[in-house]
Amino acid sequence: MRFRPADILRRITTTLALLALPLVTGGWTSGPQSTFDTKGPVARAQLEVFNVTVYVTFAVFFIVAGILAYATIKYKARSDSAEKAPVPDQGHGNPFIELGLIGASIAALVVIAVPTLRAIWYTYDVPEAERANAYEVNARGLQWWFQFEYPLEQIAGSGQLVTGNELVIPAGRPVRINLRTSDVIHSFWVPKLGGKVDMMPNRGNHLWLQADEPGYFWGQCAEFCGESHAVMRFRVIALGAEDFAAWLENQKKPARDVVAPAGAKAVLASYDMTPKKRNAPGYTADFDANPLAAWTAMQFPEKDEDAVLVNQGRKLFAEKNCVTCHAVRGHGASGVNAPDLTHFGARTTLAAGLLENNKPNLHRWIVDPNNVKPGNKMYMGVNGMAGYMTADDKGRMTKSHIQVNDTEARAIVEYLHSLK
Ligand code: CUA
Repeated sequence: MRFRPADILRRITTTLALLALPLVTGGWTSGPQSTFDTKGPVARAQLEVFNVTVYVTFAVFFIVAGILAYATIKYKARSDSAEKAPVPDQGHGNPFIELGLIGASIAALVVIAVPTLRAIWYTYDVPEAERANAYEVNARGLQWWFQFEYPLEQIAGSGQLVTGNELVIPAGRPVRINLRTSDVIHSFWVPKLGGKVDMMPNRGNHLWLQADEPGYFWGQCAEFCGESHAVMRFRVIALGAEDFAAWLENQKKPARDVVAPAGAKAVLASYDMTPKKRNAPGYTADFDANPLAAWTAMQFPEKDEDAVLVNQGRKLFAEKNCVTCHAVRGHGASGVNAPDLTHFGARTTLAAGLLENNKPNLHRWIVDPNNVKPGNKMYMGVNGMAGYMTADDKGRMTKSHIQVNDTEARAIVEYLHSLK
């Protein structure tokens, strides 16, 4: 088989064009989880290491491939007689070329190693000079959600402030995050801010990151941790100093009590549960366009809140055993196996960052959690704890404690959304 130089050239340019396509179209540099769109110093340091490595390896590739292509074309046998000619004298090593290659390899390694080592030192912990200004939180991985603890924020009678799946941090300040797990290995990763570092059983890992400005960021578990690993997500919301202080103050309060006026009747919330909406993966145009504004809007009670329905939901939340696993401070729910829901209504997402926290999505989650996040413990039950399914004494899965019908779900949804 014979390749003409023009064929080879065409193949090379096609390959390069395909490789460059995402760069040209911005496919690598945008999107909520792009590591190229950095929003903090740690992510920038990591991107810099990536870039240096890419530049050096590209240079090596083009030099080697160029020489190979040159030799292939130039010394090609161009006729039958050339093909049959005896092999020319073979050389066995040229000291200058060999020493040169060794020297060039070492130089390439040094160029990669210096920024890499510097970045490893830098990203390992908050720099000494900024340590006094750093904020500290604990992130805990569980199958399949994230718990965030605020050891600096103590609540009288309840210990430290605890939230789930949405980590709120101060912008413009280093945040040291202690990484823990309650079961298997997870990995903490916020692509635009920094990461990823594993959450290891029996080992206290940590990382730090900083958001340049207030913003709304996506996080993702980056270590395979079981059935719903791929949908184990979270959000990071970075706020200015005043907003952050106000958020902390509100989070430390117990859950809202909603008092229904005497004689008031419940009006069944009439949100659209058509299959199309129910199965929509996610995010309304408004939310996509400005998620931080959407988050801010969710911090306040809803205008059309139905006080009667809220209180029905509150009662059902206890009757259906939700309180066994979930905590709602001030409402007599103090479970610790599942996300703390004291201020659930103020979160933009549910089911560990999987769905936007709107009423149809929450309804779908409460009625059939396994359909949203397969294998989750709300559905399966744990060690005889409440669950939609639990194992009998022979290990067979049976329908059990919790069943929520449509009417009940609407009340529970109204209650959970009142928890601002
Ligand atoms: Cu947790 Cu993957």
